[in-house]
Amino acid sequence: MNKLIVSLLLTVGISGIAHAAGEPVKPGDAAAGQAKAAVCGACHGPDGNSMAPNFPKLAGQGERYLTKQLHDIKSGKRTVLEMTGLLTNLSDQDLADIAAYFASQKGSVGAADPKVVSRGEALFRGGDLAKGLPSCTGCHSPNGAGNAAAGFPHLGGQHAQYIAKQLTDFRKEEGGRNNDGDTKPMQSIAKKLSDEDIAAVSSYIQGLH
Ligand code: HEC
Ligand code: HEC
Repeated sequence: MNKLIVSLLLTVGISGIAHAAGEPVKPGDAAAGQAKAAVCGACHGPDGNSMAPNFPKLAGQGERYLTKQLHDIKSGKRTVLEMTGLLTNLSDQDLADIAAYFASQKGSVGAADPKVVSRGEALFRGGDLAKGLPSCTGCHSPNGAGNAAAGFPHLGGQHAQYIAKQLTDFRKEEGGRNNDGDTKPMQSIAKKLSDEDIAAVSSYIQGLH
């Protein structure tokens, strides 16, 4: 065996042991999370209802989904330049507590643009058979509440601008968002959406509750 492989195996082995010996993560504690989330409020709003349309609302988002995103952003699996370095010194327990805090808050709802709402609603509820596009309701539920236990995110009331950016990022071949798991449900769905589809469904979601 060459030296490089031996040293790689050693590194993996040692970090594996270090991980196994770490403190087990307890279920997230919302009260502890509130204090730990103070720095997040500048962009996401103190209760997770951000005012700026490019900063996602976190209030009322599913705890499992939030925890996964925080791990993905921390590890670089999902790129959020605005959050560079912010999660580096937070432990798995900190991330669990912060996720529990934002999940416990009540999300606010916006309004859809009446000009595109019917196209957006048709897409969200019915998909597009001709394009092989499934409806969004199957995973994100008819009222956009998602499925917290499954980790399918709550979408209803989210800023349209943020939603449109995510769909555009999932659609990109390179340099976009690709942390939607092995079966890549969102990357394959987004590739079937036109710019007009994305604008309409994002606006519909902003008013959905
Ligand atoms: C300087 C602004 C800024 C700060 C401070 C910030 N974020 Fe973010 N955060 C963003 C932006 C922008 C995005 C969305 C990036 C994108 O478009 O994909 C984001 C995305 C997220 C997401 C993913 C949301 C989703 O619906 O997928 C989570 C979770 C999150 N932030 C949590 C936090 C937490 C927890 C903190 C504090 C430790 C924090 N953020 C601090 C700007 C910020
Ligand atoms: C087969 C299940 C499934 C279907 C159908 C589906 N989604 Fe998703 N969606 C997911 C999952 C799972 C995620 C979370 C991926 C991750 O963990 O990062 C997600 C994430 C998203 C996000 C990112 C949310 C955020 O806060 O960043 C948006 C936006 C979205 N979906 C919109 C849609 C729209 C619009 C449709 C219908 C055209 C749709 N989805 C259909 C499973 C699905």
